[in-house]
Amino acid sequence: MKIFCNGKIADSDSEVIRALDRGMIFGDGIYDVVKVVDGIFPFLEDHVKRLERSAIFFGMKLRYDLEKIKNVARELSVLNGVKNGELFLELTRGYDEIRDHIFGEKYEPTFLEIVQPLRKIDPILWKKGAKLVTFPDMRHGLCEHKTINLLPNVLAKNHAHSKGAYEALMFRMEDGKKYVTEGGSSSYIFFDGKRVVAPKIENILPSITRSKVLSIVKDMGVEVTERRVWLDEVWHMKEVILLSTVSKVMPVVQIDDTSFELGEMTKRLMEAFEDLILTQRTKIS
Ligand code: PDD
Repeated sequence: MKIFCNGKIADSDSEVIRALDRGMIFGDGIYDVVKVVDGIFPFLEDHVKRLERSAIFFGMKLRYDLEKIKNVARELSVLNGVKNGELFLELTRGYDEIRDHIFGEKYEPTFLEIVQPLRKIDPILWKKGAKLVTFPDMRHGLCEHKTINLLPNVLAKNHAHSKGAYEALMFRMEDGKKYVTEGGSSSYIFFDGKRVVAPKIENILPSITRSKVLSIVKDMGVEVTERRVWLDEVWHMKEVILLSTVSKVMPVVQIDDTSFELGEMTKRLMEAFEDLILTQRTKIS
């Protein structure tokens, strides 16, 4: 497989990252994931904007603009024969001469771009619904950015997997009460029978799928409430919906030992989101 790193196309198993890259040493970097659908990249601009916002926040320089990133993605998609898959973008603060937490003035950011086949997801999950297990959110305070510090996410998702579930539903505590945040690599929204309730963006990722789906909900004339969602309330929700670039809109039918119905709101949103991706395809190609 071919990848792009700092201006060059290379083999994915070649050693293009230097040992003293701050991404390797400190996890000093950010990333994003975009879907590849029939050789196009839905919502690429939103993803690159999110990456750029985080780069500015952390004082890093995104080496390339949207056009260049798109052209490289197209080239990799052709070179790797991947028309449907995932585009992975990563920016680290780059190579530093010595290992020091304090970053120097002089460093070259590292920018990596990969187009690879979609990770394995059983298609039955979109038909029958996914199972989640609750898990403590052990992450840091920078979760509104897609940082490459993913160890707690990896542990959460692997815990879910070991219990036969698709994802974790992570929670944090306040005054001894649990409130839900997001998944290892997904967002959640809930339907209480009247309105769609979305966990407030407080130290969780402003998911692009979520923002598209919440716009669809509003266009349907259904009320959207963004607020803190307590785990105790979740048990009484009518429908639970998982969202992410790779999982798209996925029904949730079980959390721990509690079952949920795969209801009409979820089905309507699944359809509407597929339609939105279709319009992206015609818009871009
Ligand atoms: N993950 N929350 C977390 C922690 C995520 O990692 C992701 C995406 C989402 C959904 O965001 P979006 O709709 O912008 O994809 C929410 C990607 C797919 C990943 O890490 O592979």
